[in-house]
Amino acid sequence: MSIVGGKPLNGTISISGAKNAALPLMIASLLTADRLTLRNVPSLADVTLLARILRNHGVDLTIDGKRGNPAPHLGETFHLTARDIVDTTAPYELVSRMRASFWVLGPLLARCGKARISMPGGCAIGTRPVDLHLLGLKALGAEIDIDGGYVVARAARGLKGARVIFPKVSVGATHTVLMAAALTAGETVIENAAREPEIGDVAECLVKMGATIDGVGSATIRIQGADRLEGAVHTVLPDRIETGTYAFAVAAAGGEVELKGARKSLLETAFGALERTGVAVTETENGVRVARNGGALEPITVETQPYPGFPTDLQAQLMALMTKARGTSVIRETIFENRFMHVQELARLGADIQLQGDTATVRGVDSLRGAQVMATDLRASVSLVIAGLMAEGRTTINRVYHLDRGFERLEQKLAGCGASIERIVSG
Ligand code: UD1
Repeated sequence: MSIVGGKPLNGTISISGAKNAALPLMIASLLTADRLTLRNVPSLADVTLLARILRNHGVDLTIDGKRGNPAPHLGETFHLTARDIVDTTAPYELVSRMRASFWVLGPLLARCGKARISMPGGCAIGTRPVDLHLLGLKALGAEIDIDGGYVVARAARGLKGARVIFPKVSVGATHTVLMAAALTAGETVIENAAREPEIGDVAECLVKMGATIDGVGSATIRIQGADRLEGAVHTVLPDRIETGTYAFAVAAAGGEVELKGARKSLLETAFGALERTGVAVTETENGVRVARNGGALEPITVETQPYPGFPTDLQAQLMALMTKARGTSVIRETIFENRFMHVQELARLGADIQLQGDTATVRGVDSLRGAQVMATDLRASVSLVIAGLMAEGRTTINRVYHLDRGFERLEQKLAGCGASIERIVSG
């Protein structure tokens, strides 16, 4: 990807369906023999990979609107039918490439009474264990062994509703227990549940499928499972991380952009942080408008937290922005260890960042200068795009396949607002 910085962004960017909701929603199709229709599914490498994994389990998937879709930004419509589960093993070759694919464990176990899932891979952002997923499923009565890099789970006489108390908030483990409990007799109570809006989106879909769920959005979720779940039609909610990313991009480049389809209420904390830097954020009829017209960026102090706190998935983007603030910002990462791989790449552009443990101290500099940099993970790579928009001259980002995992048509969306950005297709 090649970017020539210094151009403001003006116009409209359409926000896609949320990756982090689309993935678990697709996985929820394993819970029913009926058809689950998902609208507004983003076109992303992670979605394509998960589709392969689900097909492997026996899910029949058809996609509307692949060709000749008059409004591709509205996302695709997926029809998923898991009439028969033909395979309850998710192999290493597939799961090692995307962590969220591990989440097939809960639904497969609830529906088939057994599952054999490779331990996950995904972004290289520190150790990302699965103990909480296993703790939750054990509480529901599963027997679990680890064998040859695989989690082997069994529930010969089925799972049973129970109280699950998570010692730590985990989005994935909450999804796992929520989906398994939806197809498990009795009441399951999840304590210290994740409150992310994507959990709410999945819960809404599970309710349409026949489960009874209360307390979504709070730390205690109550699920009354059903013996059998039905098909449903559900629209994926807008991507708050994509929304925040473009909001930070506009703040970085200057200009005024309407983020169409975005929901301001999904990221109050991140927008609050942006406003503290001096950027204007307003709700509009169709989404959210972000504007920065010339003013300096004020430094801020932020720490990442589970929802509704500042999202770890926007930490790298915020840091890129703060490299040119007038003063020193302090950014603390509390969710993932080792999620600072963007720091040394930002330094190549002239950023002044000191790392100590989980805290980055960012001293604003007057200017960044374009350079060759390397994308390391999904969110880190997009932070380099933001830095590139602010830098003088040309920034070339290598290994941009990370971007395609989570950002739909990124360069078209930015170029449509005046950015000088293009993908370099290597021979
Ligand atoms: C999800 C998101 C990811 C986001 C993250 C935190 C998706 C597809 N991915 O990832 O974009 O960055 O939430 O908001 O939705 N942990 C354990 N044991 C476990 C599970 C997690 O210790 O069994 C730890 C992790 O190492 C991490 C913390 O809990 O330190 C939070 O991780 P978790 O919320 O589970 O992240 P994911 O669901 O993998």
